[in-house]
Amino acid sequence: MATAQTRTTSGRPTARKTRGTARRDPLAISLLKKDHRQVEEWFDEFEQLDADAEKLELFRKIALALKVHTQIEEEIFYPEERGEVDDDILDEAYVEHAGAKRLIAEIEAMKPDEDLYDAKVKVLSEYIKHHVKEEEQPGGMFAQAKKGDDDLDAMGERLQARKAELMAKLGGRKH
Ligand SMILES: [Fe+2]
Ligand SMILES: [Fe+2]
Repeated sequence: MATAQTRTTSGRPTARKTRGTARRDPLAISLLKKDHRQVEEWFDEFEQLDADAEKLELFRKIALALKVHTQIEEEIFYPEERGEVDDDILDEAYVEHAGAKRLIAEIEAMKPDEDLYDAKVKVLSEYIKHHVKEEEQPGGMFAQAKKGDDDLDAMGERLQARKAELMAKLGGRKH
């Protein structure tokens, strides 16, 4: 019986209000979301830059973060969530990762003073924004995963460990 659900006399939040948003995200989700926020912040920062050397340095950080993030999703999160998350959503996510990686490689092959460098970084940021929305939006990938039976806290530990490994491996080189 839900007739009185939105009427509270004590000022306590209603069931409707707390559902979903108030629950703590499991580790796998909070870790992936944290990566998303970090990269978004760096893309915003990139837009404020004028010096080529600074652009190059910041893009290196963005590229490394995106490579590691997409790889841990593809190695662990996506395959393990097959069956919990709609196939279409997962399939499209792989295709979007591949598109992002192509664009990253194009940008890495360029110098910041070349034509279209800034444009390509901007398009990459918009592309990633779209992809992140598909993962985080209500009813999207993460929401579906959270409804499933997998232990997303335990998976979070594995994502974290693999991330550290890949950061050392891919980020260790100077160029
Ligand atoms: Fe992601
Ligand atoms: Fe992704």
